[in-house]
Amino acid sequence: MQLKSFKDYKTLSMQVANEIIAMIKSKPEAVVCFASGDTPRFAYTLLSEIASKENVDFSSSVFIGLDEWVGIPPEIEGSCNFFLHSTVFKPLNISSTQIHLFNALSGNLAGECAKMDKIIFEKGGIDLMIVGVGINGHIGFNEPGVALDKYSHVISLDNTTQSVGQKYFKHPVLLKQGITLGLKHLLEAKKVILMANGIKKAEVIKKTVEGDVSNNMPASIMQNHPGGTIMIDEEAASLLSSKHW
Ligand code: F6R
Repeated sequence: MQLKSFKDYKTLSMQVANEIIAMIKSKPEAVVCFASGDTPRFAYTLLSEIASKENVDFSSSVFIGLDEWVGIPPEIEGSCNFFLHSTVFKPLNISSTQIHLFNALSGNLAGECAKMDKIIFEKGGIDLMIVGVGINGHIGFNEPGVALDKYSHVISLDNTTQSVGQKYFKHPVLLKQGITLGLKHLLEAKKVILMANGIKKAEVIKKTVEGDVSNNMPASIMQNHPGGTIMIDEEAASLLSSKHW
């Protein structure tokens, strides 16, 4: 795993946007997985700006959504589906045939997981994953205590995720379960970029980078990823010991 710190959120976001562009240019048929959330939002904005300036061709690429809140309709602002469509897919003009998101309203969520796993295997695995980290150490909805050897699965959300998740919605919502790619997908992805910014992420970044690798802190699994890079701003890096710099 590599660790890279940038002076601010803007610089971090620009770097991540450039990494995505570089992946698509080097491998147009790349399979790319995107997280939702506040952290990658500006990187996605910059991605569409750079893409239109440089005329980047995404028409052969495959896009996977990392996760979704079970029971939340895709047209609700706050769903991961809504976020990815409005922030990434619409601005980049991506065809629906290239987009694979969980249907969290399905009566057969296990079938949704199996479908997603099949797509990923058939496309040859994930080339690049962009993920954030929750203050409880989750990646996607891989909550503390999750098994490290899982592919897509449905999981009960822990209390922190249920309450922090309210920030994405206009009105209070019941967030009990998530459907998510598993940590096995993350470990098998060729490249993973975990982004974090702001002082609120400093504690979890310290545990992720300097703590033991444990399923109680799912993000710590990044330490074992040869293609993993943790990209953070100075605030998120502020509790790390000086040995890293
Ligand atoms: C969202 C996701 C979550 C977030 C995490 C951080 O698709 O997978 O794991 O990445 O909760 O959220 P933000 O970026 O809003 O701080």
